[in-house]
Amino acid sequence: MSSTLRADPVTTASDGPASGEQLLAVRGLRTSFKTSRGELKAVDGVDLDVAAGEVLCLVGESGSGKSVLALSLLRLIEPPGSILGGEVRFEGRDVGAMPRRALRRLRGRDIGIVFQQPQGCLNPVRRIGWQVAEPLMRDGLGRAKAWDAAVELLRAVGLPAPADKASAYPHQLSGGQAQRVMIAVALALRPRLLIADEPTTALDVTVQAQILDLLRERCRAIGAAMILVTHDLGVVAKLADRVAVMYAGRIVEQGPVADLFAAPRHPYTRGLLRAAPRLGEIGERLTDIPGGIPDLARMPPGCAFAPRCDTRRALGLDRCLDEAPPVFAAGPAGRARCWALAGDAA
Ligand SMILES: Nc1ncnc2c1ncn2[C@@H]1O[C@H](COP(=O)(O)OP(=O)(O)O)[C@@H](O)[C@H]1O
Ligand code: SF4
Ligand SMILES: [Mg+2]
Repeated sequence: MSSTLRADPVTTASDGPASGEQLLAVRGLRTSFKTSRGELKAVDGVDLDVAAGEVLCLVGESGSGKSVLALSLLRLIEPPGSILGGEVRFEGRDVGAMPRRALRRLRGRDIGIVFQQPQGCLNPVRRIGWQVAEPLMRDGLGRAKAWDAAVELLRAVGLPAPADKASAYPHQLSGGQAQRVMIAVALALRPRLLIADEPTTALDVTVQAQILDLLRERCRAIGAAMILVTHDLGVVAKLADRVAVMYAGRIVEQGPVADLFAAPRHPYTRGLLRAAPRLGEIGERLTDIPGGIPDLARMPPGCAFAPRCDTRRALGLDRCLDEAPPVFAAGPAGRARCWALAGDAA
C-alpha cells in the first residue's frame, strides 16, 4: 500500500475538491424508510463534495442507495421515507432550511435532474415542445419566445427536425429521443448542477454512447457540474473527474478518477475494478463480488462490507466486525472508510 496514506481519520469538514469553486457540500446525510422489518437506512452518513463544472460519477451495486441519495439532495424523499439528519449546502445555502418556493427554484433552475426512464417523466398528453418551454415560461419568458427557445434547445440536444418534432407527443419518440428531450428540459434553465441517475441504462449501447457524449457536451457548454450515477466503468473512465463509490448507504471511497483506477484503496472498490484491464469501453460493467449487500434494515454493527471482505480475512482485522470504520485519507487526494488504512502511517 502507498506510504502517502495517513493514519489519522479525516474528520474535518473542509476537505472538499482541491480545484474549482465548491458547488455542493453534503455532510452526514441520512435518509431512512420505515418498513415492516424496521428502519431501512438507505443513506447512512454521506459526505460528498462537488466542485463547479466537475463530473462526479457515483458507482455501486444495485440497492446501495445511489438513487435515494440523489433524491435526498433535492429533498424529494416522500413517506415512508424521511431525511433524518445531515446537511446539504448548494452554493453555501442550506437546502434543508429552504422554504418551499426556494426549493422549487433549486429544482430545475439551480439543479437539473434526469432519470433512467425518460418516458415515465414526460407528460404523455403534452407536446414535447411545451414540456421544454414550460420551465422557461415559469421563468418569465412569453409563450412564443419560450416555444422558439424550446425548439433551439431540442436542436442543441440533437433531436432531428426539431421544429417539427417539437409538436410531437412522447409516445411518438424513440427511447433515445425521449432521453434527449429530458436532457433539454433538465438543462433549459442552465442549472449549475445536473444530476443524472443511470440516464442511459434503458437504452441500447450505441444510443447510450451518444447520450453520454451529449450530456458531457451540454454540461460543458453551460458550465454545469454533473453527478452521474452509473454502473458502467467505461463511462466512469471516459467522463468522470472524480468518483464516489457507494456501499450499503455509505460512500466507502472517493477520489480523482485516475488515482482511484490506478490504486483503489478500499477492498470493495478493488473488487469492483477487477474489470480494469478492459476499461475504456462503454458497456464495461462493475465486476460481481461474491455475496450481496447486507439487509439495510438489519445492518451489522461493524463494517458493512466485512462478510465479503478478503482483506479483513487476510489481515485478521477483528475490529471490522465490531466498529464501523471512519474516513481515512486514501492516496494523494482521496478518502476511504476502511480499517486497513488505519495502520499505514506516512
Ligand atoms: N420508497 C421506498 N420504500 C422503501 N424502501 C426503499 C424505497 N426506495 C428505496 N428503498 C430502499 O433503499 C435502498 C436503496 O435503494 P436505491 O437508492 O434505489 O439503490 P440504488 O439506486 O443504489 O440501486 C434499497 O434497499 C431500496 O429497497
Ligand atoms: S474495514 Fe475491514 S471489513 Fe471493511 S473493507 Fe476495510 S478491511 Fe474490509
Ligand atoms: Mg438507482
